[in-house]
Amino acid sequence: MKKLERNDPCWCGSGKKYKQCHMRLDEKIKTFELEGHMVPDHSMIKTREQIEGIRESGKINVAVLDYVAEQIHAGMTTEEIDRLVEEKTREYGAIPAPLGYEGYPKSVCTSINDQVCHGIPSEDVVLKEGDIVNVDVSTIYKGYFSDSSRMFIIGRTTPEKERLVRVAKECMEAGIAQVKPWQFLGDMADAVNSHAKANGYSIVVDIGGHGVGLEFHEDPFVSYVAPKGTEMLMVPGMVFTIEPMVNAGTEDVYVDEADDWTVYTDDGQPSAQWEVTIAVTEDGYELLAW
Ligand code: MF3
Ligand code: CO
Repeated sequence: MKKLERNDPCWCGSGKKYKQCHMRLDEKIKTFELEGHMVPDHSMIKTREQIEGIRESGKINVAVLDYVAEQIHAGMTTEEIDRLVEEKTREYGAIPAPLGYEGYPKSVCTSINDQVCHGIPSEDVVLKEGDIVNVDVSTIYKGYFSDSSRMFIIGRTTPEKERLVRVAKECMEAGIAQVKPWQFLGDMADAVNSHAKANGYSIVVDIGGHGVGLEFHEDPFVSYVAPKGTEMLMVPGMVFTIEPMVNAGTEDVYVDEADDWTVYTDDGQPSAQWEVTIAVTEDGYELLAW
């Protein structure tokens, strides 16, 4: 690739000169790279316009989850949740991102109790009092992707499951608090993992978060178990998910062989997950979907 000169048009397509656009940012990134750190390439740094697009997509994602929150109740099937998500998303002129994604058959993921993620909505699965369920919604709007999920407690549950749901949310929030430019994804991960461990829980290692925005799943892979100072440098314009899966027992998981999607905990103990789409800004972060 030809080195950009100061007066060349910027790589981001703004039409501005490189020196008046992303040049300083690129120079700063370079210093971290020379120190041996992992740094994002240009494809991972969104422009203002792209972030605006993801923000609009995220608003729909949030509205769909708010709608699910109003409607979810004991006795309903997860198939009904799928229908709610599908209909609400279409009402906004958007597309449910999961539908047809790598052959995924539904518009949303619904993961109950010891299901860690990627549970497939079904007419045969009825929500019952005491269940804890993750509803994971992802939206495509005008070509922009957003992704967030929440836990719902059906009626009243055990103190153990209630604590798991609460701590899983706190883990995500601890991660969010560490999102600042020129820190590392490992700083965020360490905050998540430390909070889980302090509460006697484990974080799933093999499945993580991801860049998001122009596609459903982009680089980088986002770990929630990495040590401080490791993993990729966070740079303004990066957009990714924070979505740690928090297990009451072992971190080990397996994929259901029958449907090839649903992930379960190995020991049958419950798992909880909350997810946001977050952008790194000049001075911290902006939540784009929650
Ligand atoms: N929304 C999930 C995530 O957070 C992805 C689900 S993949 C699908 O990455 F195919 F099930 F949609
Ligand atoms: Co995600």
